[in-house]
Amino acid sequence: MKYLVLFGPPGSGKGTQSENIIAKYGYGHISTGDVLRAEMKNETELGKIAKDYIEKGQLVPDSLIIDMLAKTLDNFTDAKGIIFDGFPRTTAQAVALKKMLAARGGDVTVMLNLIVEEQELIARLLKRGETSGRSDDNLETIQKRLDTYNSQTAPVIDFYKAEGKLANIKGVGTIDDIFERISIEIEK
Ligand code: AP5
Ligand code: MG
Repeated sequence: MKYLVLFGPPGSGKGTQSENIIAKYGYGHISTGDVLRAEMKNETELGKIAKDYIEKGQLVPDSLIIDMLAKTLDNFTDAKGIIFDGFPRTTAQAVALKKMLAARGGDVTVMLNLIVEEQELIARLLKRGETSGRSDDNLETIQKRLDTYNSQTAPVIDFYKAEGKLANIKGVGTIDDIFERISIEIEK
């Protein structure tokens, strides 16, 4: 089974490109952000805790995310592959993922790292904020999400680089062109 880590800062196109990967390759998809938003909508205990962090542009604590991921992973035993979208976001999460996959006899196949400069990210997220209804798509929270990304999440790139799994993808241009670059990496 292939395990893809689809990585990049807020607004880099993880969700958009996940849809293309699902359509072409039929992989399962785990977006920790989507799972958390569903928990918030259903007003679960986890959702109530997550809301405070998400609205401040901070990461939800690792222990909660890792437990949540472990439960979600069990839904995908028959998939040809799994896309991890927005996870891992800390080195501790990357280490936990490695352990979870090893227990299933697997490992991350590749980290697809979408590279997009900050002005473009902000422009995309502000535009999305006009219609998304996401409580974190406003300028103040977008800035905090970018800071959180730079300080806590970007170091995950080094983790996968050291594992020989890093594939940098130019994340600007048309959605189709970016998907073409991603497909080449998936089929390597
Ligand atoms: P999450 O939901 O993962 O949000 P994010 O990482 O901030 O990323 P986004 O979903 O905003 O962007 P994206 O990369 O998916 O881009 P998209 O395709 O939508 O996380 C939200 C929060 O949950 C976090 O802040 C944190 O609090 C918490 N959380 C989640 N996971 C966690 C974890 N593992 N640990 C701890 N906390 C966690 O594209 C963006 C926009 O750009 C769209 O409007 C799209 O149409 C447009 N677009 C896409 N591609 C292009 C293109 N090529 N050209 C022009 N526009 C484009
Ligand atoms: Mg997303």
